Amino acid sequence: MPMVNSKEMFKKAYEGGYAIGAFNVNNMEIIQGITEGAKLENAPLILQVSAGARKYAKHVYLMKMIEAAIADTDLPIVVHLDHGPDFETCKSCIDGGFTSVMIDGSHLPFEENIALTRKVVDYAHERNVTVEAELGRLAGVEDDVKVSAEDSSYTQPDEVEEFATRTGCDSLAIAIGTSHGAFKFKGEPKLRFDILEEVSRRLPGFPIVLHGASSVIPSYVEMINQYGGNMPGAQGVPEEMLRRAASMAVCKINIDSDLRLAFTGELRKHFAEHPDHFDPRQYLTDARNGIRQMVRHKIVNVLGCNGKA
Ligand code: G3H
Ligand code: 13P
Ligand code: ZN
Repeated sequence: MPMVNSKEMFKKAYEGGYAIGAFNVNNMEIIQGITEGAKLENAPLILQVSAGARKYAKHVYLMKMIEAAIADTDLPIVVHLDHGPDFETCKSCIDGGFTSVMIDGSHLPFEENIALTRKVVDYAHERNVTVEAELGRLAGVEDDVKVSAEDSSYTQPDEVEEFATRTGCDSLAIAIGTSHGAFKFKGEPKLRFDILEEVSRRLPGFPIVLHGASSVIPSYVEMINQYGGNMPGAQGVPEEMLRRAASMAVCKINIDSDLRLAFTGELRKHFAEHPDHFDPRQYLTDARNGIRQMVRHKIVNVLGCNGKA
């Protein structure tokens, strides 16, 4: 099975009423945990690499390890740039073998977002690479992007047709109340499903992407805190809301924070139970198993893409 772009995968997901998990990768154990989990559930997969991940692990290492994971699992896998900050980064990822890129122009004025996205689309489509764009702004914290709640804004449905037509993008990330990181809502979690419905009414059959979609699963937060961590007040997107979104036009659900929690929780537990261990293979085995279990849980209970590879 070769690396694939997202075109067919999203078409099937849209028609089938499920979503594909887009999981962030930063090292070998994370790649192995995700792909082993997907293999056990026979699920299609998007592995996504942020600019921060490229800085941490280097493009070539991540690419070669993903190629190894594809050879090992024989699954359809999209290799995707997460939050591409500029044309040059997108070009570098396309030239370096990625099958999909996100150009994140969500912080730009409408016309500038269109112009930048169009430029990336032109370069990508000539090379059979699909492009995700973003309209509206999520709050939250990533390595290279920090957006305060005041600077975040919901996607305006009356802009999406013009944006999709003029850019030619293949999928669109929208802001309906999710945010990046482990602290997503002040008070009751609330997603603007009315915006999602209106966007999909205006763009029939068009794949929508949800960022900031970790559920910040309480048992993992508890595990971290039980073994010496300190994560007060963590809060994520309830799983039933994600399932509802997946049954609608949302074809790609981005998950990073839940992987970080699983990895960190298992490491903390391991060291608490085995203070004498110093062989990385011992503690990283637990961390990798934590990732695998988390991914299986997401595929079966949130995304509904089990058996769809
Ligand atoms: O939304 C962003 C992802 O969680 C990646 O985060 O920029 O810290 O690698 P990062
Ligand atoms: P979370 O922080 O909710 O996992 O979101 C990840 C994401 O959107 C990556 O682009
Ligand atoms: Zn994101």
